[in-house]
Amino acid sequence: MQVGIDKLHFATSHLYVDMAELANARQQAPDKYLIGIGQSQMAVIPPSQDTVTLAANAAYPMLTAADVDAIDLLVVATESGIDNSKAAAIYVARLLGLSKRVRTIEMKEACYAATAGLQLAADHVRVHPTKKALVIGSDIARYGLNTAGEPTQGGGAVAMLISADPQVLALNDDSVVLSEDVMDFWRPLYRTEALVDGKYSSNIYIDYFQDVFKGYLAEQHADLADFAALAFHLPYTKMGLKALRSVLPTTTPEHQEQLLAHFEHVRQFSRQVGNLYTGSLYLGLLSLLVTDPELKAGDLIGLFSYGSGAEGEFYTGRLQPNYQQGLDLALPQRLARRQRVSVAEYEACFNQQLQWIAADQTIDYQHDPQRFVLTGQINEQRQYLDQQ
Ligand code: HMG
Repeated sequence: MQVGIDKLHFATSHLYVDMAELANARQQAPDKYLIGIGQSQMAVIPPSQDTVTLAANAAYPMLTAADVDAIDLLVVATESGIDNSKAAAIYVARLLGLSKRVRTIEMKEACYAATAGLQLAADHVRVHPTKKALVIGSDIARYGLNTAGEPTQGGGAVAMLISADPQVLALNDDSVVLSEDVMDFWRPLYRTEALVDGKYSSNIYIDYFQDVFKGYLAEQHADLADFAALAFHLPYTKMGLKALRSVLPTTTPEHQEQLLAHFEHVRQFSRQVGNLYTGSLYLGLLSLLVTDPELKAGDLIGLFSYGSGAEGEFYTGRLQPNYQQGLDLALPQRLARRQRVSVAEYEACFNQQLQWIAADQTIDYQHDPQRFVLTGQINEQRQYLDQQ
């Protein structure tokens, strides 16, 4: 029996800022952001969206009534949590109308946690093949205005339905994992923006990729030539390109060209959204599968997951015959329909996030077209609304 990703869907906000405009506002050369970092647009998350609403907005369009009946595990992976005790997944389960018999948890290890959730879900389905699991990576990447990390912000959520006989990608049980205590990026409980040692974090990312990828090749007696494409966690899209380039010399020039061409598809959506933290690797996978006409059933896809702090994992999956049927195919059109905001409007959105204070607060959500929105806080309880 094969187990893997049956459906894959993405949500972000309806707003974005243009990266050339942001570069000009920050007295940087536009090509530094567009080419050096590899980002063209960045999602601007309004205060009416948080990790809960993004997660619910990512999942609901792909779920049928039969899926909802079969789901008995919900994992929301996030590092943008809204509560130190209660899992974001509990709110998401209610918004999605899931059964009260669903095991519902939040997982955290920086950008890596959605992969931990995916592997947990796959093992769960291997034991209970008639059941399905919903895994959502949902985050808002915040470093602060006028910081070096600012052009690598973004936000959104990727929802994955895990089942037996999956439509999209059958997972191979071949993970190689590395985790150690590293201070490359962290966010103490009292902060709303991450702290990061940017250059160091980029070096650790490459070290982790090299380590788990070489570990995989040794354990599986494989080589780079076996792969149709590699997908990466994309904190900024140049990061994945650097990782790919670091292993290219081990294959033929013709295959190098193919891998680089596939990578342009991997990074297409992330280029328009920015860092999603937990969801980023899976947006890269979705981008590859939706936009790349050269892929075919049976292709072997390698996936590199990285979370600062640090944890890395390399694993693989086989593309399934009807993989297009499980994908969010309308995503390119949705991204193209988003509304461009000025740098001043982006800064206002950034500063209007719901404050971490005890007082009641209201949020102007009326212009947010997403189905699920955050409307404010009453008695220190977040208020969510289903606009449908
Ligand atoms: P910086 O210091 O402002 O940028 O910050 P830089 O000076 O290193 O320039 C960036 C690139 O642009 C360089 O290319 C320049 O050469 C190039 P590279 O040498 O790296 O190939 N450049 C130009 N290119 C074309 N035309 C020009 C031009 N000017 C310069 N005119 C940094 C960059 C990424 C460090 C910063 O944005 C940052 O700190 N970001 C946040 C940290 C991050 O994303 N780290 C990635 C690895 S850690 C990770 O992936 C985990 C994470 O997602 C969190 C989690 O796990 O939860 C972050």
